[in-house]
Amino acid sequence: MARYAEDSKERIRAAIDFVELVGARTELKRAGVQRLTGLCPFHEERSPSFGIDPVEKLYHCFGCGAGGDVFKFVMETEGVDFPTSLELLAERAGIELVVQEEDPRATERRARRQRLLALLERTAGYYVRVLWEAPEAAGAREYLLGRGLLEASLREFRVGYAPSGWDKVLLGSRRAGYSEEELRAAGLIQRSEKGSHYDAFRGRITFPLCDRRGNVLGFGARAMRDNQGPKYVNSRESEVFSKGKQVYAYDLARAAASRAGSVVLAEGYTDVISLRQAGVENAVGLMGTALTEAQAQELKGLARTVVLCLDADAAGQQAMVKAAGLITGVGCELRVVPLPAGADPADIVAGEDGAEAMRGLIDRAMPFARFQVERALDRAQVATAEGRDRTLDEVAPVIEALPPSVLREELVQITAGRLGL
Ligand code: UTP
Ligand code: MN
Repeated sequence: MARYAEDSKERIRAAIDFVELVGARTELKRAGVQRLTGLCPFHEERSPSFGIDPVEKLYHCFGCGAGGDVFKFVMETEGVDFPTSLELLAERAGIELVVQEEDPRATERRARRQRLLALLERTAGYYVRVLWEAPEAAGAREYLLGRGLLEASLREFRVGYAPSGWDKVLLGSRRAGYSEEELRAAGLIQRSEKGSHYDAFRGRITFPLCDRRGNVLGFGARAMRDNQGPKYVNSRESEVFSKGKQVYAYDLARAAASRAGSVVLAEGYTDVISLRQAGVENAVGLMGTALTEAQAQELKGLARTVVLCLDADAAGQQAMVKAAGLITGVGCELRVVPLPAGADPADIVAGEDGAEAMRGLIDRAMPFARFQVERALDRAQVATAEGRDRTLDEVAPVIEALPPSVLREELVQITAGRLGL
């Protein structure tokens, strides 16, 4: 990202109407020459402990301690980093950002990255056009709509279709002035053993994978037929794309996650699209990998509470415990949605009254400890002493890890009741 000259920052600060900026988030009432108050946009409250100084352009909440200047306000409410807050506010104020002088190599690197991003962007647009217009994609359209996904949702996520020809993207991009080297660097073509190039995605439904700001960095691509190799292929790791560092749909979920104070984490692309379609707009996806530390940091950037909406089958259970550790490790609160066994969010949303059912499940998200204890008790073989002991061994460490609390007391009681202790 470009570094901006220091005076850009001060010009933006001066130009921004702070009352209007904050007023879009919470209703403000005049409470003095240099003070307006309102309900805090950063925590739930009934009477206002939040106030701003419209002259100094500062805000502060006595309830939750949130506070800062115009840039901090945008960072917190939009869930963006500082340079992005600068860009958003510059746009709002109609101020042109001045890029600081930097060494020519950095300028060159940025120019190259911009070209690769532009190439990926036009390719995403091309795939979308193919999906909705090409006769070849009729099967894909039918498949997606048949799964209960709406055209509007698919368009919002820019789902597309990569045609089955060997060189459609290759030839189209070359004509637009991109080199084979650039196409390879963007992960869009591959080299055969004989040294010729061909498109990396062919005959597959494409899901653009974007960075925090919605720039396309790569694709996940789903097979349409059984004999097509793996169900999903993803862009390979490259100078622009790194799967373990991102979560799917960060850009789309950002505003809603920041508003809700929570982010819902699902497994796959179709899960996230279905969740959003069901009105769960703060949903992001894992893209099938085990959660990484970097992804946990991304989640923290979105919200303080992470709501796991992952399949909890035997394999999923293991992964969930690991993910839970990473998420609490970065300082987020963790809740778990009790999904019916074997069902993913996409299945649930596609069912009868699916959207409502899905939202209901999310509302019933529970602390991770309760989830673990209840699952263990559900599976418990209480007929034998050995069975009860096994369950106790499973449940005890979970409860012991909790601080003294009502929750802890309750879990002790449920366990004792069920195991007849
Ligand atoms: P799933 O197999 O659960 O796929 O993998 P899905 O999302 O439910 O797909 P649909 O609904 O059948 O279309 C979950 C996620 O794991 C990644 C993808 O990101 C997928 O969304 N994955 C899965 C891969 O990267 N490669 C694979 O071969 C399979
Ligand atoms: Mn699925």
